Amino acid sequence: MRILLGVPGGIAAYKAVELARLAVKAGHSVRVIQTPASLRFVGRASFAAITGAPVLASEFEDDPAKGAWPGEEPGSHTPISHLALIERADVYVVAPATANTLSRLASGSADDLVSTSALAATCPVVLAPAMNGLMWANPATVENVLTLKDRGFHVLEPEEGPLASHGEAGKGRLVEPDVILHSVEMLGAQTRDLDGVAVVVTAGGTREPIDGVRFIGNRSSGRMGFAVAEAAQQRGALVTLIAANSSLPCPLGVELVEVGSAAQLAAATETAFQAADVLVMAAAVADFRPVAPVGGKIDKSAGVPSLQLEPVDDILKGLAAKKSSGQVLVGFAAEHGPSTQRARGKLEAKDLDMVVYNDISDGTIGFDSLDNQVTLITHKGERQLALASKQVIAGGIIDALVELRSSGS
Ligand SMILES: Cc1cc2nc3c(=O)[nH]c(=O)nc-3n(C[C@H](O)[C@H](O)[C@H](O)COP(=O)(O)O)c2cc1C
Repeated sequence: MRILLGVPGGIAAYKAVELARLAVKAGHSVRVIQTPASLRFVGRASFAAITGAPVLASEFEDDPAKGAWPGEEPGSHTPISHLALIERADVYVVAPATANTLSRLASGSADDLVSTSALAATCPVVLAPAMNGLMWANPATVENVLTLKDRGFHVLEPEEGPLASHGEAGKGRLVEPDVILHSVEMLGAQTRDLDGVAVVVTAGGTREPIDGVRFIGNRSSGRMGFAVAEAAQQRGALVTLIAANSSLPCPLGVELVEVGSAAQLAAATETAFQAADVLVMAAAVADFRPVAPVGGKIDKSAGVPSLQLEPVDDILKGLAAKKSSGQVLVGFAAEHGPSTQRARGKLEAKDLDMVVYNDISDGTIGFDSLDNQVTLITHKGERQLALASKQVIAGGIIDALVELRSSGS
């Protein structure tokens, strides 16, 4: 596995040397990039000797290995891109992730090789923070970590205990290098089992206009669909994400189509579906819409308007009726209550391949939250995915999708 190790300037940087050593010992191909500050803590020589490859600490310096990884022949020319290493990494791990580097990653900075690589990564990125306990507990760091998790970075929370700085203790201790390596191996082992598969994912919540400024909407943030799109992309799929009214950043490598209303979402999905192998309908689509939205703004002095609604066509049911053999269709069912019966009813009635059911009576999961707990319902049975981040749940959904495709249903 090609592991890119980004080393920021924290006192625990010496442990990154051990991480590199363990990774090389385990047979991985490792390249190291350092922030300028980290050079004050550990020099390049140890990393270079351990990995057998040059270490870079600036986006402006040439790579003597010309973008090659240990075990490969050096390239014949200097890579044009300062991103040559991240482009071919299977996993990018940043350890020890300093408060400063976390802040720069959360704000999208690209002012050194470590942050630029994070910004351009399409592989999983693992962050192993380490810092003084007060720095870790500071609301700025807390918020940065939440932002990064939300964007799909894998954060290995620091541990409680003695810190590397003399006499200090608290939460902020770098996770042990062997544990970091284990997480890196788990993420990097993800096979590209959707290589070249065309996946269409819908996400977010539609808005049905009442007048020029008001609409009937719903609380969907789009997080679940975005996580599915990202997971599919990381496993090699060619992903089109049709997003209704979501403010989330589009995952790297994913093609984004932005829509507003159910009708727009239906049109975009119908077009994308023609070339799709898989459709995952995670968007919360309106069931009803105003029959006659008016232009401008309804004047409140005219009294309380009466709103006549009409049903919205069921997009998934319509597409299921047209599906060609080999196409896999997945629906979502947000139901109020713990029974999976209604969700199974949807699977049958709409002739889907899988329904992802979640119980929205539990306010801590589902709509607009970071975590979810779902049951995957197929014609063959049901599988529960335990409460976890939407990224982890998305991985479970993709696993089930891959199984469905290989079983030919
Ligand atoms: C002796 C010493 C130890 C430090 N240890 C840490 C640390 O463990 N974690 C941290 O976030 N910052 C630590 N810092 C502060 C960082 O070095 C500083 O924020 C630096 O700008 C980080 O830059 P970088 O993230 O670009 O590598 C330490 C500074 C010094 C002088």
